[in-house]
Amino acid sequence: MRIKRGIAVGAALLLCGGCAVTNIQEKESHTGMQEITEVDESLIVVGFSQIGSESDWRNAHTRSVKEALTEENGFYLIFEDAQQKQENQIKAVRSFILQEVDYIVLAPIVETGWDAVLQEAKDAGIPVILDDRLADVDEELYTCWLGTNAEREGGDAGLWLADYLEKAGRDEEKIRIVTLQGTTGATAQIGRTNGFHKVLEQHDNWEMLEMMDGDFTQAKGQEVMETLLAKYEDIDVVVCENDNMAFGAVDAIREAGRTCGPDGDIIILSFDAVKAAFDAMIAGDINAVFECNPLHGPKLEKILNSLEAGETVDKIQYMEETYFDTTMDLESIRETRAY
Ligand code: AHR
Repeated sequence: MRIKRGIAVGAALLLCGGCAVTNIQEKESHTGMQEITEVDESLIVVGFSQIGSESDWRNAHTRSVKEALTEENGFYLIFEDAQQKQENQIKAVRSFILQEVDYIVLAPIVETGWDAVLQEAKDAGIPVILDDRLADVDEELYTCWLGTNAEREGGDAGLWLADYLEKAGRDEEKIRIVTLQGTTGATAQIGRTNGFHKVLEQHDNWEMLEMMDGDFTQAKGQEVMETLLAKYEDIDVVVCENDNMAFGAVDAIREAGRTCGPDGDIIILSFDAVKAAFDAMIAGDINAVFECNPLHGPKLEKILNSLEAGETVDKIQYMEETYFDTTMDLESIRETRAY
């Protein structure tokens, strides 16, 4: 690891009174207090700007990264939670640059608005790994990206629906659909929406009544579903761009006195496949879930170790993912789920 001297080095050396400090990181706590930490020179220092904790998926993703990038594994992780705000992520990246971390891992909340700060990281010689979501920037500004193929997920959901409707003898019927979208401009939102739409365009009898932003949260998902139920009497399908919004949608549907799932009158499709989504499928509330695997930690660890060894890594790396529906042995699969 390169020797790093953050902006707090002078202060830290004074505090240390000349002790053998080899690498020092300064962390700013949420209270604005400066916290000076001595970091073993053998550790790879990684600044990780996480989006927030908007969903079960996000919490599993955070846990996976924290469990992989440990001191035992040779890392010193500086974790910053942006609380769903891009400005906080930009601030975090700038603080990582000031601290001269070895690598920056960024999960960008939306795809746009990253050019300036990622250019700053490049100018400082700090490799940036984009994780989970993409940034719409020149590809020279990041080393690689690890995440989900959201457009394929959306397409799979559309193909699953076509097959389900055909088996139910409803392939000629008018099908009215609404979508609870994830945060507007996020890779997972853009990909899932586009992928589903490509299939929708092939079915003249499918109509997208409306798509509304549910921000990937359960509360917003419920609120948006309440609005849609009040506006449209005849919804056949709800595409929820993540599990937490699906949980909110199910609550709204129940409260409106309607039914959903395989035995209900509204088909619910979701993305992520967290444990609670298995519970919802087992309970008969959700029809099918398209997996988005949050367990990025081990792959990130591998990427960082390869870069540290001077190796090149694939620019685009997808997680392995599948789908689940109520025709499967969900109880057994649920037992094997790590999140
Ligand atoms: O970017 C991945 C998405 O972000 C997950 O589907 C969602 O649950 C999360 O908030």
